[in-house]
Amino acid sequence: MVGISATATQRRRYLDRYADGFHISARRKQKAEILAETLAALLPDADALELVDFGCADGAVPVLMLHGPLGARIRRATGITLLDYNDLPDKPAHQHQRFLRTIGDLEGSLEHLTLPWGACDAVTATAFFHYCDQPDIPFAHAAKLLKPGGYLLAGMPAPWVLKLRSRGIPGVLPRNGRIRTIVPLDLYRRLAAAFGLVEVSRQAVQWAGTEWTTGLERTLRHAHFPYFGAQHLVVYRKAGEETAPADTADTDFHRLLDGLAGR
Ligand SMILES: C[S@@+](CC[C@H](N)C(=O)[O-])C[C@H]1O[C@@H](n2cnc3c(N)ncnc32)[C@H](O)[C@@H]1O
Repeated sequence: MVGISATATQRRRYLDRYADGFHISARRKQKAEILAETLAALLPDADALELVDFGCADGAVPVLMLHGPLGARIRRATGITLLDYNDLPDKPAHQHQRFLRTIGDLEGSLEHLTLPWGACDAVTATAFFHYCDQPDIPFAHAAKLLKPGGYLLAGMPAPWVLKLRSRGIPGVLPRNGRIRTIVPLDLYRRLAAAFGLVEVSRQAVQWAGTEWTTGLERTLRHAHFPYFGAQHLVVYRKAGEETAPADTADTDFHRLLDGLAGR
C-alpha cells in the first residue's frame, strides 16, 4: 500500500487526536477537519475543487469543510442523502451558497439527478458504506463521478465496532438496527479495485468515541499495535484511463463476500 503524501506531523495528529465526547456536532467538526487536511495533502495545487459527499445527512460535514481553511478552494460541494431516520424533512439542512443537498438513493440509479459526472476531484463518504445492502452500487457511482486521479475518502468503522454497535450492549450502548453490511476493509479494497478505485492509504482516525475509548485506543497504538483503530479513513484513487479496470474484475459484492467466506 502506498502512503499518501501527508506529513509526519499530520499523521501523528490523526493518530493522537481525541474525540471530545458524545457531541455529534463536534465529531462532525473533526471529520470535516481531517477530510480537509487529507484533501489538501492529496491535491496541494488543485483549485476550484468539485466535491460530492455520500450520505451527507443534514450536510454538516461538507458545510464545515466549506467554512474551513480548504473552503476557498472548493468550487462546489454536492451532498447526496436519503431523508430518513436522522434527516427528518422538517430538519433544515446546513446552508452554504456553494453547498447543494440532493435527495437520492445511492444504492439506486442516479441518472435522473444532475451531478458532476466525471468531473469530481473528490468524493467523501463518512459513516456511510455500512448502511448499504449493496455497497458495490455507491462504489460504482463514485468511480463514475470522479475524474481520473480523483479520490474517494471513506470513513469506515472497523468490523468489530460495527458488530458491537449492531448488537448493542444492554445498559451501555444502544443497538443500531440500521447497520446492513459488516465486512473487512480488505473486501472493500477488492470491491473498489473492481471499479478502478485503488486503495492508497488506510489510517486510524479518532473522530468518534468517548474520551476513555479514544484514550484506550491511543494507548494500544503507542504500546504495540500502530494500526489499531475503531475508525479508519481509507483513501482510494481513481485509476487513470491507461489503467482502467479489467473487464473480468468482479464487481458483484455478494459474490465477493461468498468468495471471502470460502463458499
Ligand atoms: C450516520 S449518517 C452519516 C452522516 C455524515 N456523513 C457524517 O459522517 O456525520 C448516514 C447517512 O447515510 C445516509 N444513507 C444511508 N443509506 C443511503 C443511501 N442508500 N442513499 C443515500 N443516503 C444514504 C443516511 O440517510 C444518513 O444520512
